[in-house]
Amino acid sequence: MSTPRNVVVIGAGPAGYVCAIRLAQLGQKVTVVEKAELGGTCLNVGCIPSKALIAAGVLLDKIRHASAMGISATGVKLELDKLVAWKSGIVAKLTGGVGGLLKNHGVTVIKGTASFVDARTVKVVGAAGEQVLKADDVVIATGSEPIEIPGFAIDEDAVWSSTGALVPKKLPEHLVVIGGGYIGLELGIMYRKLGSKVTVLEATAGALPGQDRDCVKVIERSMKKLGVELLTETLARGYQKRNGKLVVNVTAKGVDKTIECDQIGCMVGRRPHSKGLALERAGLKLDAKGFLAVDKRMRTGVPNVYAIGDIAGQPMLAHKGSKEGLVAAAVIAGLKEEYDSRCVPAVIFTAPEMASVGLLEEQATAQGRKVKTGQFPFAASGRAMSLMETDGFVKIVADAATDEILGVHMVGPEVTELVAEAALAIEMGATAEDLARTIHAHPTLPEAMMEAAEAVHGMAVHIFQKK
Ligand code: NAI
Repeated sequence: MSTPRNVVVIGAGPAGYVCAIRLAQLGQKVTVVEKAELGGTCLNVGCIPSKALIAAGVLLDKIRHASAMGISATGVKLELDKLVAWKSGIVAKLTGGVGGLLKNHGVTVIKGTASFVDARTVKVVGAAGEQVLKADDVVIATGSEPIEIPGFAIDEDAVWSSTGALVPKKLPEHLVVIGGGYIGLELGIMYRKLGSKVTVLEATAGALPGQDRDCVKVIERSMKKLGVELLTETLARGYQKRNGKLVVNVTAKGVDKTIECDQIGCMVGRRPHSKGLALERAGLKLDAKGFLAVDKRMRTGVPNVYAIGDIAGQPMLAHKGSKEGLVAAAVIAGLKEEYDSRCVPAVIFTAPEMASVGLLEEQATAQGRKVKTGQFPFAASGRAMSLMETDGFVKIVADAATDEILGVHMVGPEVTELVAEAALAIEMGATAEDLARTIHAHPTLPEAMMEAAEAVHGMAVHIFQKK
């Protein structure tokens, strides 16, 4: 085995800590520098805590609507402080687990803020003072941070970012969410299910820009049923505090108006985070959007410096960062490895859930491909009926000439789980026929995937497809 390389990983989110563990598994000498908590945004103030609160909202909503199943529950109440404590317990368990894993793999963890002295030297300022680390390689995994917009300084009091929205001191009576993207919809719907009145302001013509419009339509319809007000083509301009209330100024479809509420959530996107790293001292330069450009081996323009996760570009998703971490670790360890995944699945925990992988129909067409699609509604699924969740469908986009599956977009029950099969299909270069011929267990939700694949050829058995 060659001499271990001395690697410093900056940032211990799902990109950085995964990279560090893999580097250790591959025999390298690894130090991770983290200025906040292990686990990064995902574990501490993102994916995990939000999904815990969302699960509570879903359960509460199910209990309220269980009478159709003959179950009536009385005296159901939400104890917000207990919910927040339960959620924090999950976060603590997971971040503790990451700490344990790093320790068991022999990774040195330093708490502090890192900055470059040069491409092979990193300075760390922490509670224990200042130390200087020499490195053969440096991996930058510093993630991203919420974007602020003029008129809405985030104070995590009157104006929450997604971070503040995960530690509510009281349930808002009326929450105004700015931004109808991933975070705005997930948290807006969650608060509605917990009992708040919710208004979502979205600048563009519809929620979740860039996602399959047929899927989004289902979510918009369900938000209406749930009582979440979605104002599209609406820009938030600023707010004032008046008589103990918050008054939000908006321009809705060209008309100025005000909305009174007691809580504002600003969820208008995230931007890459690299402040204070002194990248220029390592000879690194950010692109126009603040990302570090990398090649397929996660190398920046500076030979021994790598970048992974949100700082390395879109999509800003934990699992994409983790994958990049594994690639960077292998490359540093001298293995022939590159990022060559065909697709990155995306999951959105709305009601119903939405998930998507691969190309949208219009993206495939724009690439000059002829496509055919197949769609199967959950309304025709026995399993979905038994769950009382029949809204939504699975849509498969396939190449008309080769039958190869190019994209799968779905909205409905448990689709955030179903998307794994779709990602595997695309990664393996499967055709719609491959999926259609695979026996799917009955009665399960993934049967909808098989039937959508059959529908690509006009042969779905449980819906009538006109020739
Ligand atoms: P986003 O980019 O998904 O959505 C932001 C929305 O705000 C857009 O629809 C935009 O049109 C709107 N907007 C911007 N300025 C506005 C204004 N002044 N007034 C009204 N609307 C305005 O960003 P979001 O939701 O903050 O999420 C950031 C990233 O975090 C996502 O891109 C995603 O990668 C990641 N994420 C992933 C999740 C998951 O995987 N389930 C969940 C949450 C976030």
